[in-house]
Amino acid sequence: MAKIIALTNQKGGVGKTTTTVNLGACLAVAGKKVLLVDLDPQGNASVALGLDPESFEGKSVYQVLVDNMSIKKTLCATEIDTLFVCPADKDLVGAEIELVGAMSRETRLKKALDSLREDFDYILIDCPPSLGLLTLNGLTASDSYLVPMQTEYFAMEGLSQLINTVHLIKGQLNERLELEGVLLTMFDGRNNLHKQVLQEINEHFKEKVFKSIIPRNVKLSECPSFGKPVILYDVDSKGAESYFALAKEVLVRNFS
Ligand SMILES: Nc1ncnc2c1ncn2[C@@H]1O[C@H](COP(=O)(O)OP(=O)(O)O)[C@@H](O)[C@H]1O
Ligand SMILES: [Mg+2]
Repeated sequence: MAKIIALTNQKGGVGKTTTTVNLGACLAVAGKKVLLVDLDPQGNASVALGLDPESFEGKSVYQVLVDNMSIKKTLCATEIDTLFVCPADKDLVGAEIELVGAMSRETRLKKALDSLREDFDYILIDCPPSLGLLTLNGLTASDSYLVPMQTEYFAMEGLSQLINTVHLIKGQLNERLELEGVLLTMFDGRNNLHKQVLQEINEHFKEKVFKSIIPRNVKLSECPSFGKPVILYDVDSKGAESYFALAKEVLVRNFS
């Protein structure tokens, strides 16, 4: 039975997509069957895994949410045998508005993913940088949520909104939703501010903070333009090493 994890933070540019793609790739290389759901109209995760938007036109997460298309029809293979993508493109921008008056609008992704639980070990959802209906669908469909945070001033700002949204969802749509963990990204150990923010986040989230910390690493920012996760782009890089460590931590936490 798949574990479904939403990667979310309403701030943009904190490493959600980078983490979804690279954690997904590392779990897949570790032998797990992984589905990545791109829930961001920017479609960055789809492109970062080498997909050409023209190749999945008319068969993306948009059609699943709005037209009730079977999610199985949208699944795309990647360079890694055990890693699949339900892709997104700019069509998805319209979904938030088109779904406003729709029946069971918050539970559409849940319904689709529940039909795939038997087929995967992990399903990772790359949420957009907002707390709108798409993120609501992501969190309603998930068992847990993982929050990437950039170690910068104001990192914690806005988190109370996310926590409030999670409370609402737990109360009304998905009572089993729990925090998978908080992940520090783009960390620079020589930067005193980064160290200070790290300490602050550790004090606040305690054992929920992943021991693996993702450093700022140029290979991680280069690999999307080659359509590859970092482990296929530069397996010896610090970026690859840190995402392997994260994957191991996720596997250990979920081992039972
Ligand atoms: N650890 C890292 N080191 C260097 N660049 C990174 C790292 N993580 C993310 N980036 C870059 O930062 C930008 C924002 O990251 P992204 O994962 O797209 O954030 P989000 O999905 O939260 O908007 C991208 O250009 C990405 O390549
Ligand atoms: Mg993103």
